[in-house]
Amino acid sequence: MNPQQASKRARALRGKLNNHNHLYYVLAKPEITDREYDTLYRELVDLEDQFPDLKTPDSPTERVGGAPLSEFRSVSHSVPMLSLSNTYSKDEIREFDARCRKLLENRAFSYMMEPKIDGVAVSIRYVNGLLELGVTRGDGRKGDDISQNIKTIRSIPLQLLGKTPPDLLEVRGEVYMTREDFAEMNARRVKAGDEPFANPRNSTAGTLKLLDSSIVAERPLDAIFYAVGAHTVTNVQTHAEMLEALAAMGFRTSSHVWKCKDIDSVIGALDKLAALRTSLPYDIDGGVIKINELALYSEMGATSKSPRWAVAYKYEPEQVETRVNAITVQVGRTGALTPVAELEPVPVSGTVVSRATLHNFEELERKDVRVGDRVIIEKAGEIIPAIVRVVEAARTGKEKKFRTPKHCPVCKQPAVKTDGEAALRCENFQCAAQLKRWIQHYASRGAMDIDGLGESLVEQLIDKKLVRNPADLYALTADQVAGLERMAEKSAENLVRGVATSRARDLWRLLFGLGIRHVGARSAQVLAEHLGSLDAVRAAGSENLEQVPDIGPIVAASVHDFFADSRNKDLVDRLADTLELAAPEVPAEDAPWSGLTFVLTGTLSRFTRDEAGEAIRRLGGKLSSSVSKKTTYLVAGDDAGSKLQKAEKAGVEVLTEDAFLKLLKSTD
Ligand code: IVH
Repeated sequence: MNPQQASKRARALRGKLNNHNHLYYVLAKPEITDREYDTLYRELVDLEDQFPDLKTPDSPTERVGGAPLSEFRSVSHSVPMLSLSNTYSKDEIREFDARCRKLLENRAFSYMMEPKIDGVAVSIRYVNGLLELGVTRGDGRKGDDISQNIKTIRSIPLQLLGKTPPDLLEVRGEVYMTREDFAEMNARRVKAGDEPFANPRNSTAGTLKLLDSSIVAERPLDAIFYAVGAHTVTNVQTHAEMLEALAAMGFRTSSHVWKCKDIDSVIGALDKLAALRTSLPYDIDGGVIKINELALYSEMGATSKSPRWAVAYKYEPEQVETRVNAITVQVGRTGALTPVAELEPVPVSGTVVSRATLHNFEELERKDVRVGDRVIIEKAGEIIPAIVRVVEAARTGKEKKFRTPKHCPVCKQPAVKTDGEAALRCENFQCAAQLKRWIQHYASRGAMDIDGLGESLVEQLIDKKLVRNPADLYALTADQVAGLERMAEKSAENLVRGVATSRARDLWRLLFGLGIRHVGARSAQVLAEHLGSLDAVRAAGSENLEQVPDIGPIVAASVHDFFADSRNKDLVDRLADTLELAAPEVPAEDAPWSGLTFVLTGTLSRFTRDEAGEAIRRLGGKLSSSVSKKTTYLVAGDDAGSKLQKAEKAGVEVLTEDAFLKLLKSTD
């Protein structure tokens, strides 16, 4: 075949394959067998091998993923990705309707109601009909370029269907996993010795963040589209028509949408959706109500966070009844002992629940949960299951009260109750359970971010006494690790490499990872920024620590006590020896805003909080979370509340967003 013929054939194959792909994945109406599809696919692969120039971005061969990236590029959304305001009652839905009617001064309009899919929002741009860019929502203004991952999702078109695609189309929708696909994938993971994911949404979010798109290609992602960003689509007047246009261009849209002439009809539709909820293949957490007439959107506008023409109706968390088979005690990172109810497994909101936390023994007593009880559980925030109450009517008299433990269940040392605290604690510094949680925390993504150090590996490292504290991690050799269960040479090397890479993390990650009580990620950042080095933090007395903005006496005392404790001295010495921490960026003394302290409050429309904070720090200013005598300026956005009042009372100068912007421009 000559190059010209090859090019023509490749184009024909791409068109055919993309079309059959749509018939199979979106419409579930295949017209050819898998075998016939594979034959066409192989032919294209061979052609592209022979003539690499023929590879195009819309080729179905792109769907298997590409070379791993080292990081995602950050891109701005041309139209911000707003969120929706939430309502939880029919009354609030009626209030929304009243607001719309008032804004539209009794002009005629109608509504659409559709499922609120519990997935991960993305925006995808098509230029001249070809998929050009896929971006995460991020903070709504900027997101990550995850194009390579998006292309692996078989139900998302690489080229738009139809003869005359719009020049520009940004579609917005939700990437998700069906409950069934999720369960199968988790079963495979457990079999392979990997950690299972908590729920379909978490696993979708985790998958989209993978830098290696070839792994993404193997995960069962799907996507439904429900909105547009910038676009040149013409001849659509309503949201319903837009959804039809999207479906005609090859996108999966919701199979259940309701056109509603008024709010009563919306409420009826919400009830119908609720009845359908468990039969849908994916999780939904409510319904979205949108005005149907697109021309009204720009007129109604949006607040900085959400449009005025739409609202979400969120379901109450699903409650189910089950039995308490046992009550066990979990040991936390700081030694807190927490009662956990081991339940007869039941599905709740899409995942099977077999444990529920009771927070502390006082709560256990108050709720009077006994072994053998029937209980009502719910997923608060749809992630962590909690026991709502005991079904007392179901008691038989055989239920057993649980006695508050006198000892730690793991190391058997006495359980101690500290005054003023609800928690009971194991105070044994060397308790294996505490060590495990400590190392897990140290290695977690939010702290030192050590790749390859999962839960089961930590367990073994502690049980085999290879690791007694975080410093021991840096002395591990690949040989030692390879000898552990389910570890091969390659995974052992990965771990050693992951540990080595973590040597160069930022100082704040270490301060957070050390697990000092009361020191969260934010306090750790502030400490790192103001003290600059591990040595300085170690050497600082409580008074010095309290001078750091936002560090109160409790945190200051806790940090001081941690470094003063003789048991931590050796650990910190060894860490200081082996780590090559990245120094925090400290603005120069003569930076233009050095010595100025800012507090932000209310909603800013031209920045996110992070962006404003970044700008302040870049110029050498300090950002604090509360107004005090030390505050130079309070920057007040829309709907500023108590901080504004406090600032006015304290005589602190208040800047509007405009004034802040001016100040910024005059110095930048
Ligand atoms: S419309 C400007 N429709 O809910 C409004 N959003 O809190 C754009 N979501 O970020 C959103 N299903 O991730 C819309 N049918 C649906 C949705 C939906 C789920 C998510 C979306 C958005 C969040 C809003």
